[in-house]
Amino acid sequence: MPDVTEPFDLILFGAAGDLALRKLMPSLYNLHTDGRLNETGKIWALTRPGNNLEAYLETLKQSIQLNEPELDPVEWKGFADRIHHLGLDLDKPAGYNKLKKKLSDRTCHRIYYCAVHSRLYPSIGEQLAECSLITPDSAIVLEKPIGSDLQTAHEINQRIAEYFSEEQIYRIDHYLGKETVQNLLALRFANSIFEHQWNQRYIDHIQITISETVGVEGRASFYEGTGALRDMLQNHLLQLLCMTAMEPPASMDAQAVRDEKVKVLKALKPIKGADILDKVVRGQYEEGISNGNHVPRYKGEPGVSNDSNTETFVALKAEIDNWRWTGVPFYLRTGKRLAKRTCEIVVQFKEVPHSIFELLHKKTMANKLVFRLQPDEGIRLQLCEKRVGNHMQVRPMTLSLNQNENDSKRVPDAYERLLADAINFNPTLFLRQDELMTAWRWADPILQYWESSDQRPDAYNAGTWGPAAATLLLAKDGRLWEENSA
Ligand code: BG6
Repeated sequence: MPDVTEPFDLILFGAAGDLALRKLMPSLYNLHTDGRLNETGKIWALTRPGNNLEAYLETLKQSIQLNEPELDPVEWKGFADRIHHLGLDLDKPAGYNKLKKKLSDRTCHRIYYCAVHSRLYPSIGEQLAECSLITPDSAIVLEKPIGSDLQTAHEINQRIAEYFSEEQIYRIDHYLGKETVQNLLALRFANSIFEHQWNQRYIDHIQITISETVGVEGRASFYEGTGALRDMLQNHLLQLLCMTAMEPPASMDAQAVRDEKVKVLKALKPIKGADILDKVVRGQYEEGISNGNHVPRYKGEPGVSNDSNTETFVALKAEIDNWRWTGVPFYLRTGKRLAKRTCEIVVQFKEVPHSIFELLHKKTMANKLVFRLQPDEGIRLQLCEKRVGNHMQVRPMTLSLNQNENDSKRVPDAYERLLADAINFNPTLFLRQDELMTAWRWADPILQYWESSDQRPDAYNAGTWGPAAATLLLAKDGRLWEENSA
């Protein structure tokens, strides 16, 4: 991960919000304590009017201490000294003018980070432009989901493009900053043994799961109008699919990588009309036991309406219409309040055409490559080996390519890498506009169908793997989700 050697101003909109307190600031703190931030770099925490620096720092300290109870007082002081606070109304010029005065003598990389709802992005862009705060050395970072459908995403992108050039816009998807995703690229494109097998001749199917045990965690005001498809599938899951399925880019150059991802998104077979019932499952959690505790149903969460139709789970079968992937389903799945917190990409290879060995188990002996992004990061390869003894029996064995076992270094949080990249103006791991719009174009018919139909999400008990229909989605094809086949 490159250091931030240049001086910078990071201006954080929504600094008192959940994302900033839980992820962004702790990541900046880690970058600071690792000595990776330029000494003169400043962080401007922008919150609603009424807050002050002292109160903000106290809240922030408590938040960082959740992960780091033994906060080093010297490191904390150094980090706190970088932070400046400003209360402002996002759609009024007064606060922006104050910001302008404070930044007037600073000529350095200026990064506006929008950790607020995407409907607010246009007014932020407009105020920044009106107050002449956008310098040639400025960039804007936009959090997902950008828009709530194709139309709104288009409108937001158009408005932002009035104030910032495409090169200045960094659309973030923090899953792209996860170490194992980088490793997926290294494994695919630095090892010829895998790349030759990476196609429909050798691969049976691919599963990508992001499962969470948490519920909406007090974010109902955001989640109610969002749901799992917009929150996770349209962005994180599709990005993981792109990284798994894309052709080798000509280089690691940002445009080359994005070009290949767009090609995958364009080749995704549309899921429309009656296909939606067949290939897409949506669910909503009921009460149940999660991590040993009784938890309420989604509709019983504070801020959720009694007749909510919002999906907390989605699973679907995606297909890519190109030479490499025709006939290889990509099963994608995500949900809240599921049995386990995990994120895995499972590449299931085809069985050998004819087995000459006695099988110890009836279960499949096909090779499997698993990229695990969460809770720990690592890669494992399932192979077959001979069982010790006289009989010629084979059994599955797992080869672990686990980072943590071979390398004692702390695995940086995805946001650490992406924040450093954004401050350094390196766009490789951020989304280009056409990428975002192509993803929305594919997801939009599903959302529209759900909105127009009176069908409700399938119920599932908290602490399980989702609705029965999700198991059926694979069973119809004679396959099992990873947790049932391991
Ligand atoms: C965010 C979603 O993008 O990703 C959250 O808005 C979700 O709902 C989170 O909990 C999961 O991220 P991670 O890195 O903890 O898996």
